[in-house]
Amino acid sequence: MAEPKLDPTIPPGLHLVSAFISMEPTNTLLSLSRECGGGLVTEGVQRFIWDHCISNEAGEKGYGPYLRNFVKRLISEVESRNGTVLDELYERCGYYMSSLKDDRLVKGSARVHKCISFLFPDVFLGCEPPSCSKSSNLVVPLHCSLNMLEGDTGCSVWPSSLYLSEFVLSFPDIFSNKSCFEVGSGVGLVGICLSHVKASQVILSDGDLSTLSNMKLNLKLNQLSAETDVLERFGEDPNTVQAELYNKSKVKCFHLPWESATESELEDYLPDIILGADVIYDPSCLPHLLRVLVILLKQKKAYTQTWEESCEGRLQDAEHIDVNGASEGKSLFAHDIHCVTIQNGNRTDPCHVEELHGGSSVARLMKCPVAYIASVIRNIDTFNCFLKLAEEANLVIADITEALVPLNLLPYMQSYNRSSIRLFTVKCK
Ligand SMILES: C[S@@+](CC[C@H](N)C(=O)[O-])C[C@H]1O[C@@H](n2cnc3c(N)ncnc32)[C@H](O)[C@@H]1O
Repeated sequence: MAEPKLDPTIPPGLHLVSAFISMEPTNTLLSLSRECGGGLVTEGVQRFIWDHCISNEAGEKGYGPYLRNFVKRLISEVESRNGTVLDELYERCGYYMSSLKDDRLVKGSARVHKCISFLFPDVFLGCEPPSCSKSSNLVVPLHCSLNMLEGDTGCSVWPSSLYLSEFVLSFPDIFSNKSCFEVGSGVGLVGICLSHVKASQVILSDGDLSTLSNMKLNLKLNQLSAETDVLERFGEDPNTVQAELYNKSKVKCFHLPWESATESELEDYLPDIILGADVIYDPSCLPHLLRVLVILLKQKKAYTQTWEESCEGRLQDAEHIDVNGASEGKSLFAHDIHCVTIQNGNRTDPCHVEELHGGSSVARLMKCPVAYIASVIRNIDTFNCFLKLAEEANLVIADITEALVPLNLLPYMQSYNRSSIRLFTVKCK
């Protein structure tokens, strides 16, 4: 009986291709290859890999040593089960072996091009249009280093930024139309996801200059030019350039070492939301990181809202939220909770409602920012030091990992252990 043809737009073919372009370890690729063939890497699966991973653009752009290892392991897997290996794979393996004799690059700081595919539920459930669109997944191309320590650790993708990106994409309403500011942004993945969910402004920062230039490269790769482009396009009508950039990109990035960051440097940003992924790891940096968080978190933003607006909007959810942040049924949005609460249909929060006109028809509110920090707790002493410094700085930290669980948008990434990551909100007392 002929083997069913694999489709690269639905699982399991989709997972295999996604794992390949995100440069998942070879073991993951082999396990997904077996899954595609019902336990064996059949000739049909090999043909699929040849067509969708090796002989196409992905294979041409791919990193040689990675491709060589995959093809070598694939061949031994098939041979060990007495299967038939495609001639094309033998030939390509021979080519890799002769042209990539030098292994130094594999161990060094080679820059590679990978693509992180966020697969939305309708895509990975594999249902057909029009009820759901196969094109709704988000593929983010990134330049990064194979050396996790390069660029002060900022040139590779760390697991917390995968988690924070899944969080942003799973709860877009938290971030859309909000001004977002990230510290220690690394390759820029979270910022690209924030732009995807239409944050009103995305400001990325990092203290390492080589990380920053790599991040700028990634913004360009994702058609999100860094703001410096305005200067580079000197001579053109600034209004046209500004309008173009406004429509196309709202992402800016800048050099922000926490040690030297000043209040005056940060006071213009007024973010609604601050983000950080895997930034709690070096005890010597923590006092400086916390100082930056305090500066950003204490900037209250004034805004007005009518009663009708609040009834139409998400503030209605505040009825379902208690002071500890537990929610009943509806989504919980941390940045709304501390602005205003609604009790029995009346707004009551004397701390934040500054003035009420005409029997509470218009309120002038002070909105405090909130930070979302995702972290793998590798060293409990370092994390406890962060908690202690936060307490001393009058910050309140809440672990929201279980309360707001993001969708699993990276189901093919077997190397990514999401259970090791915690998500915290940080607010001023
Ligand atoms: C472990 S990496 C995480 C990168 C990225 N957020 C991610 O999760 O993929 C830590 C990041 O914090 C930045 N960083 C470390 N110390 C810093 C400091 N003192 N000031 C500013 N950025 C710093 C590094 O350059 C790096 O980009």
